[in-house]
Amino acid sequence: METIIKKIDDESIAEAKEILLNGGLIGMPTETVYGLAAVGTDSEAVKKIYEVKGRPSDNPLIAHVHKNYDINKLVYVSHDYVYKLMESYMPGPLTLVFDSKGVICKEAVCGGETLAVRMPSHKGCQKLLAAVDMPIVAPSANLSKHTSPVTAMHVYNDLNGKIPLILDGGKCAGGIESTVLDVTGKVPRILRAGLITREMVERIVGACEIAEHKEGDRVRSPGVKYRHYRPRCETALFAENELDKANRLYDEQIAAGKRPYIMCADYLDEHFKGKNVLKLGNTGEEIASNLYDKLLEGETEADIIIAIAMPREDGVYLGIMNRLRKSCG
Ligand code: TXA
Ligand code: MG
Repeated sequence: METIIKKIDDESIAEAKEILLNGGLIGMPTETVYGLAAVGTDSEAVKKIYEVKGRPSDNPLIAHVHKNYDINKLVYVSHDYVYKLMESYMPGPLTLVFDSKGVICKEAVCGGETLAVRMPSHKGCQKLLAAVDMPIVAPSANLSKHTSPVTAMHVYNDLNGKIPLILDGGKCAGGIESTVLDVTGKVPRILRAGLITREMVERIVGACEIAEHKEGDRVRSPGVKYRHYRPRCETALFAENELDKANRLYDEQIAAGKRPYIMCADYLDEHFKGKNVLKLGNTGEEIASNLYDKLLEGETEADIIIAIAMPREDGVYLGIMNRLRKSCG
C-alpha cells in the first residue's frame, strides 16, 4: 500500500472520511501528538489499529469526538464536576475516563467497562471529526514502544506502507499526549500526566489525585505500565546536579568513536560548549512541545542521547519527567 501525505483541507478531509467509513485507517493531527484513526464502532477497523502498531491487546483506545458531540451518547457522566472540567478544558489536551455505555466496540476498550473520551482542539482535527460525526478511536500514530509522532513525517517514518493517508496538520503544538483523568469517582484521578495539570484540575474541582503505579498493582490505565516513547538509539538520563557525569559520559563516548548528543533545557546549554546539543526550550510548555521532536531528530543522528532531567515535577513538568524517564531512564 502506498502511503500519501496530504495537507489537511476540505478535500483531504472528504477523502479521509471515505476511507474511515469504509473500514480504513488514517493518520490525523491533534494538538498533542498525531493519532492513528478508525471509526470506533467498527471492530474490524479497530483490530487493524492493534495490528499496524503492534499494540498489546490489553491497552484500550481513546474515543475522539467533535466539540458539539453529545458525550452522553457514549458514557455515563456521574459527577457534576465533570461538566465544569469540560467547560474549562475541552476541547483541549484532556481525556476523561467514564463508565461506558458500550457503543464503542469491545476491541477498542479491550473488553473493559470504561471508555476514555477526548475532544481535540486542533482545528483541522475538529473539522474531520465534525465531517465524520462518529466517535473516532485513535492511539498515537507510532509503532508500539516508539516515540509518539508530532509531525506527519514522523507518522510516515513509522507507518509507511501500512495506511493509505496521513493528514498533515503541521507540527503538534502540545507535543506530549493528553492528560488521562479518571472521572468515575468523587475525586478525579490523573492516570497519565499531561498539559492539563493537577493544579489546573484542582482549581476547578478542588481536589485531584494522582494514581500511583506500583509493582503488582492492578493497573487502571494499562498504557502507563509499558516501556515506551523510546527513541531508536542508546539513552541515558542524569539529574540537573550531575552535569559533570553527563559531560564525562559524553567524552567517553567520543573517545570510543561514538556520536553522543546532550538533550537539555536551553538554560543549561552553556555547560556543554562545543558539544552536540538537542535544545528543548526554556518554559515547561516549550519543553513539552519539543521533547518528542528532539528525541526523533536525535535518534537519526546520535548513537546515544544523554538527557538532563528537569529540576522540578510540578505542573507540566510532571508529564515531561514521566516521558523523559520512560524514553531515556
Ligand atoms: O493525546 C493523546 O491522548 C493522543 C492523541 C492521538 O489523541 N492519543 C494517545 O493514545 O496518546 P494512546 O493510545 O497512545 O494512549 C492512550 C492512553 C493509554 O495509556 C491507555 O491505557 C489509556 O489512555 N486509556 C485508554 N482508555 C482507557 C480506559 N478506558 N481506562 C483507563 N485508561 C485508558
Ligand atoms: Mg501512545
